[in-house]
Amino acid sequence: MSTSAVHLIDLTKQYPQSTKPAVSNLTLHIPEGAVYGLLGPNGAGKSTTVMMLCGLMRPDAGTVNVLGMDMETQSVEIRKKIGVASQDIALFPTLTAYENLFYFGRMYGMSGSMIRQQIDKYLHVFGLTEKSKKIVHTFSGGMKRRLNLMAALLHQPKLVILDEPTAGVDVQSRNMILDFLMLLKSEGTTIIYSSHVLEEAERICSHLGVIDEGKLITEGTLVDIMNTHSDCQSLEQLFLKLTGKNIRD
Ligand SMILES: Nc1ncnc2c1ncn2[C@@H]1O[C@H](COP(=O)(O)OP(=O)(O)OP(=O)(O)O)[C@@H](O)[C@H]1O
Ligand SMILES: [Mg+2]
Repeated sequence: MSTSAVHLIDLTKQYPQSTKPAVSNLTLHIPEGAVYGLLGPNGAGKSTTVMMLCGLMRPDAGTVNVLGMDMETQSVEIRKKIGVASQDIALFPTLTAYENLFYFGRMYGMSGSMIRQQIDKYLHVFGLTEKSKKIVHTFSGGMKRRLNLMAALLHQPKLVILDEPTAGVDVQSRNMILDFLMLLKSEGTTIIYSSHVLEEAERICSHLGVIDEGKLITEGTLVDIMNTHSDCQSLEQLFLKLTGKNIRD
């Protein structure tokens, strides 16, 4: 069996106001070097899972193991080695792009010169060099989304966790983001990519975990899962076969 970058074992989480768990006895195995698509309809429990696996939320039960470390006892170490881009954009709207990135670099404990070097690199990669001194509040949705992603990458994490990284962006920004993720993968970074954009998952993911109503429906390599369901022509067809056609929420 390949080495796990992340191993979630029997995770359960129920929100206080809720009548049923958002995540229920969920076990996932995310191999090192994978681009792992965490897929599921609205309300499936993707964001709740992501928050537990990066230590932002504590499970009611179960174990979160990240890069060989246990979240209960080694969360500080884990956070230094992972990069997280949340579904809701987490930036300071009244600061400039540069100031935002600098703040995140400091949070990761990076030196000033390393932060500046990384900011310059990523501003260039994501086409924002010209906008670095502009206040984030004035940015388009695509620019904010790219900046949100850059903030997660500055410290060159071994594991990158992205919750809907292309939500609300145009096709140009989306291509830029996806191409960059493929470059990160080629450098050996493990990527967890939560989304319901199935064409994107089909394009970039090596592995999939499909969840619905907080439970695992299927997990494996994209190729194996598609081969198992050879009646499905696309990931979208497969997804509908596994999760049904009823509207959630
Ligand atoms: N803060 C909260 N309080 C109560 N219930 C919540 C809260 N956050 C999420 N939920 C509920 O938990 C379930 C899982 O939500 P979650 O946001 O994890 O799903 P998701 O798969 O990320 O959905 P989406 O695709 O819409 O982003 C849903 O039923 C949702 O309504
Ligand atoms: Mg979500």
